Amino acid sequence: MTTTPHAASKSLSNATYDVKELETLVDVENGLIDRRIFWDDAIYRLELEKIFARCWLFVAHESQIAQPGDFLTTYMGQDAVIVCRGRDNKVGVFLNSCPHRGNRVCFAEAGNARRFTCNYHGWSFGNDGRLLGMPAEELYEDTCPSFASQNIGLHPARVGTYKGLVFATFDEQAPSLEDYLGDFRWYLDIVLDNEDGGTEFLDGNIRSRIQCNWKFPAENFIGDSYHAAWTHNSGAYGMLGQSVGKINQENSFHANVNGHGWQFGLDMVGNAMALGEQDIVDYLRSREAEVAERLGKLRSRMVGSVASVTTFPNLSFLPGHSTFRTWVPKGPHTTEINTWILVNKSLSYELKEKYRKGVMRTFSPSGVFEMDDGENWEHATQINVGVVTRRQKLHYGLGLNSKTEHPELKGEIHLRKYNDANQRAFYRRWLELMTAP
Ligand code: FES
Ligand code: FE
Repeated sequence: MTTTPHAASKSLSNATYDVKELETLVDVENGLIDRRIFWDDAIYRLELEKIFARCWLFVAHESQIAQPGDFLTTYMGQDAVIVCRGRDNKVGVFLNSCPHRGNRVCFAEAGNARRFTCNYHGWSFGNDGRLLGMPAEELYEDTCPSFASQNIGLHPARVGTYKGLVFATFDEQAPSLEDYLGDFRWYLDIVLDNEDGGTEFLDGNIRSRIQCNWKFPAENFIGDSYHAAWTHNSGAYGMLGQSVGKINQENSFHANVNGHGWQFGLDMVGNAMALGEQDIVDYLRSREAEVAERLGKLRSRMVGSVASVTTFPNLSFLPGHSTFRTWVPKGPHTTEINTWILVNKSLSYELKEKYRKGVMRTFSPSGVFEMDDGENWEHATQINVGVVTRRQKLHYGLGLNSKTEHPELKGEIHLRKYNDANQRAFYRRWLELMTAP
């Protein structure tokens, strides 16, 4: 995308921000961000158009829709969608809205269905999105001659998969998913492809809501290890009986590719330790040589290390800890969180259970660390109700001069975990998209 000034943003969303004004909001050179991006409705509406209606968004793991007919319902931005596997095994993503009068056609969160039938007048759609039939079909044939040629069905998104993760975009002009992820795939392979069998989501999805702007959790997971030893210290005592301790800054990095970011150390099991399950730590350690053989020594040290990740714009996870989530916008000050647990399929039932319990105790709605974070994100958002408060910029200057080269790591690399580099790269990407034609 280019940053060429363009007026479309105004006309499309009735926003009061044109490109010049938008460009004043994000100052990556000096590490300053305008608070209005976390508050203003006009900016939020523009995000729905420029980011959520254009980017590749994570919609499902293939294991959630393993059989023909399996489906789940979710959101792309604020657009309700159905993700389903057709009889031909192809995964489709469609707007969950009837083309007749717009009613929602599927109310279930997940299931298996041959067709989706609308409650209002009974139009019926296949799991490939095609209109299959409706009451009084002959009247349409007789009185609406163009009907057959109009190709009416559920509006489809483009679908792409990467090693079990299903993404979709409503932008026909978007680059391929491979290009969208680019070299970030090299990092994603650490969790998605560290053995032959691949990954799955454990059954169940928890949806929760917090009163914060969606970007606060996204930027927290992209690189904010700085908060961990402070915010989570009492939680760590409660959970693990010890403080978070000093977070090692040696051999640790921020890596960024096109706004996707991974902050990490090379300690191999730090994140996994936060689950409070020694068996998981032992399991990861036992696999080090095997993973090194497959992915190289460097990535074998990242499998469960202290690390956090956001794939732009709103998919985040903790490698080795296995909480896996999306931050779904529900307005400028409300975010719906989907929480899943991603594991290697080959894991024993006992270890899967330990992952499930460990994630629920830490990074789920009732998790001790999630509650710490959620409160901070809510206050960081809601405080901006103050007009004078909103005029003050936020500081993102940590590590402005920490850029480095690395012989193996992909993307833009900065030294040390305590760094705002990935956050700055996230907002640079955000601005590119917000100002793009
Ligand atoms: Fe769906 Fe009329 S709104 S059939
Ligand atoms: Fe946190």
